[in-house]
Amino acid sequence: MSTSLNAKISLNDFQLRDGIYFPNDYEQLNSTEQKQRWDEIGKTYYGSQKIEQAEETSPLKQDYTLLTGRPGGTWNKFPINKSVDSILEIGCGYGRIPLFLSKDKNLRCQKYYGIDISESLLRRLLKCKQEYDFFPGAEFYIICASAELLPLEDNSVDLIISNCVFMHIPEAQIRNLLVEVSRVLKPGGTFVFNHSFHNKSCPSHIIHNLVRRLNPKQNSVYLKQYSSAEINAMLTTSGMKTKCPQYIVEPTQEYAILPETIKGIQIPFANSINRSLKPSAAMKETLAYGYSAYSSQL
Ligand SMILES: C[S@@+](CC[C@H](N)C(=O)[O-])C[C@H]1O[C@@H](n2cnc3c(N)ncnc32)[C@H](O)[C@@H]1O
Repeated sequence: MSTSLNAKISLNDFQLRDGIYFPNDYEQLNSTEQKQRWDEIGKTYYGSQKIEQAEETSPLKQDYTLLTGRPGGTWNKFPINKSVDSILEIGCGYGRIPLFLSKDKNLRCQKYYGIDISESLLRRLLKCKQEYDFFPGAEFYIICASAELLPLEDNSVDLIISNCVFMHIPEAQIRNLLVEVSRVLKPGGTFVFNHSFHNKSCPSHIIHNLVRRLNPKQNSVYLKQYSSAEINAMLTTSGMKTKCPQYIVEPTQEYAILPETIKGIQIPFANSINRSLKPSAAMKETLAYGYSAYSSQL
């Protein structure tokens, strides 16, 4: 794969081992706290290790939803029977979203690029691909790296997706990542960043932030939150408008006034109180747990 003028790296700078592209300076990435955290979380993330432990006769082997469930939010709006040349997924984990899009929405592609910092999750993605054969016939490029530098050419990807990832990434990295995403998206391409940003005005996050300030070392999995104006400004600055002029930044439909856990301790009734919230249109931007951003024409 050739390197374009603007791409700072290409897959030529990676080594392919066991179906995964690793950067040449993998030791350096391995020494980061962010990578170590996600390698650890990845060992049991969403019970995904069950796929490795399942017997040949286990129903899990036949029915992918027993492993992943069905993701909601913007994914429900995704059209059926769409076909694209290439898909890039940021923070693909073990493949929950491509599984759903391939199996439930019959999305087809020629090339799937999945980038994630967690080697344990990527190994499981390959296992899931083997078990469930999502995006049959597509070329798979599975890349273990932090996503703020993308080893892909300018204007090379038709569809870029991400689910619940950006809230785990520091702001400076997100800004670089969005510039990179805008760079590699084809003009007229589409994107879905479902449940990607946490909402700055949500009371549950405000309480969490207060607790975190008392013990800043704890729970650095969730980082900064944003308003819709800030998300729009980041997307504009990244250059996304020149590739995909029409997109929506929308509050998610999960609402919360109380954190459900603090420092791993369950807060009584928080879950049922949060689930019972039915905010008026005016209150949705305040109580929504997060934001999604996606192309108006999917
Ligand atoms: C909450 S999980 C979501 C995984 C997957 N998208 C899903 O919906 O199941 C967050 C994912 O982001 C990945 N991640 C965190 N920081 C990252 C970074 N800097 N670059 C790439 N991936 C990252 C984690 O390894 C993890 O797979």
